[in-house]
Amino acid sequence: MERKWWHDKVAYQIYPKSFLDTNGDGIGDLRGIISKLDYLKALGIDIIWLSPIYKSPFVDQGYDIADYYAIAKEFGTMEEFDELLAEAKKRDMHIIMDLVINHCSDKHEWFQKALADPEGEYADYFYFREGKNGNPPSNYRSYFGGSCWEPVPGTNKYYLHMFAKEQPDLNWENPKLRQELYNMVNWWLEKGLAGFRIDAIINIKKNLEFPDFEPDGPDGMAGCWKMVESVEGVGEFLEDLKKNTFQKHDAFTVAEVFNMKEGELPQFIGEDGHFSTIFDFSAHSLSDGEHGWYDAVKVDFKKWRETIVNSQLEVQKAGFEANIIENHDEPRGVSRFLPEYARTPAGTKMLGTVSVLLRGIPFIYQGQEIGMQNAVWNSIEEYDDISTKDQYHIAREAGLSDKEALEVCGRMSRDNARTPVQWSDKEHAGFTTGTPWLKVNSNYKEINVESQEKDEDSVLNYYRKLTALRKSPEYKEVFTYGTFVPEYESTDNVMAYYRVDEEKRMLIAANFGTEPVELKLNYPVKKVALSNMKKSQVGEKLQLESCEVIVLECM
Ligand code: GLC
Ligand code: CA
Repeated sequence: MERKWWHDKVAYQIYPKSFLDTNGDGIGDLRGIISKLDYLKALGIDIIWLSPIYKSPFVDQGYDIADYYAIAKEFGTMEEFDELLAEAKKRDMHIIMDLVINHCSDKHEWFQKALADPEGEYADYFYFREGKNGNPPSNYRSYFGGSCWEPVPGTNKYYLHMFAKEQPDLNWENPKLRQELYNMVNWWLEKGLAGFRIDAIINIKKNLEFPDFEPDGPDGMAGCWKMVESVEGVGEFLEDLKKNTFQKHDAFTVAEVFNMKEGELPQFIGEDGHFSTIFDFSAHSLSDGEHGWYDAVKVDFKKWRETIVNSQLEVQKAGFEANIIENHDEPRGVSRFLPEYARTPAGTKMLGTVSVLLRGIPFIYQGQEIGMQNAVWNSIEEYDDISTKDQYHIAREAGLSDKEALEVCGRMSRDNARTPVQWSDKEHAGFTTGTPWLKVNSNYKEINVESQEKDEDSVLNYYRKLTALRKSPEYKEVFTYGTFVPEYESTDNVMAYYRVDEEKRMLIAANFGTEPVELKLNYPVKKVALSNMKKSQVGEKLQLESCEVIVLECM
């Protein structure tokens, strides 16, 4: 396998709006990010992914871009962005940005021109289609609820939007549009960007017949992803994109891909794949409800373990995936994947260890390194997220009470990950001197960076050790390229695996249960490489307390 510059890197996702505010307007900014580069360096971070910072009306928090060449004034200026690039470079860190090119904002000049002249050139940058018998062209429900089709004022046409109506889909069939996008991507790469996280990209290929599907909900509509799954040929667009942009710059790309077809993984992440890597969402998909969040199941440990194991075994045949426990679209991993008794510093370290040492590129999401958890939400008004509001509505329509619907949102909402980073126990968790745009989690006095800096045994200091171990000269090779081999799969409550290469065999073993377990070691132990319970030696048998994790170098 050809070695790539990004194989051994540790990445970190910043959601700029909630990271750190330096001018008191309640919104995180580029200055805040620049001021924390040393903090991130000390955490062992090499690649920083910034969620969108482009000019935007923020209907979907920046995933609705009004100008691909401009920085949102809420976040700062292009000069500050250039400073961020330069400061990151000084520290040998790489910046990647979000690339949102399935859709843009309805405020983007292309869409404004299309509306002004629905027969003109720019209308063909989008999907403008005539309705059927007074109805929209098809019965698709958008990802954020409601029809995917919105009337084009003054015409008998509709435009397509797979997400919010303020996010019109771009017509990738149009070579002119594609070229505009490639120019933009190259412009950023030439500026010194190391690559992109690529948003919702599987959606760019449409079934141009826009067939109706069997309704799957009381609204008589069918999820628009069914159309995505019904069409072939996204790979041609993805190759065209890659050849015209990323490949020329040796850029790192990590794509958000759902709804991939059976057997396509090598085409996406193989040696010559469309992308460097894609996120592994297999564990997150376990709590996809059939009709929405309200019928989302709680994650069962056994299923979770089996899912990760299967995914690792499958992926290592093809390439590398990016491993996460949470991101800006998911609830906090500690609240989701750990049972209540394990939502402690020990349990948090255990989950982090098991995730960060998997084969693949670890992506740590802001606040994960201090063990941030879901917030407590008291009313639907406290939320900002467009998707949470839709899901609340769906739950109520399905007959849930206000209290039950709120409980569902509390468990699943994307805003759980979007509450401000908890920097200290001061007002607003030290995130801002103003009023935060989204409320701060009320547990900030217990969970914050400042207090964890002072505590040698904190989650933060443990995460530092964890990334340092992964990147240490001694173990870097095995943790980057070593094979993943599951172990103790039939032992209840234990998640364990080896990372093995010709020189080394590392065992990672964790006890997710409430009772201690004893494991018979199948290889003699050379050294304890990491322990969340300060263990320095083990005998022939490995005893693991509840929420204990250990990393052993075996013979
Ligand atoms: C992706 C983003 C999400 C956004 C959506 C539409 O899923 O991660 O935050 O809402 O795309 O752009
Ligand atoms: Ca600010």
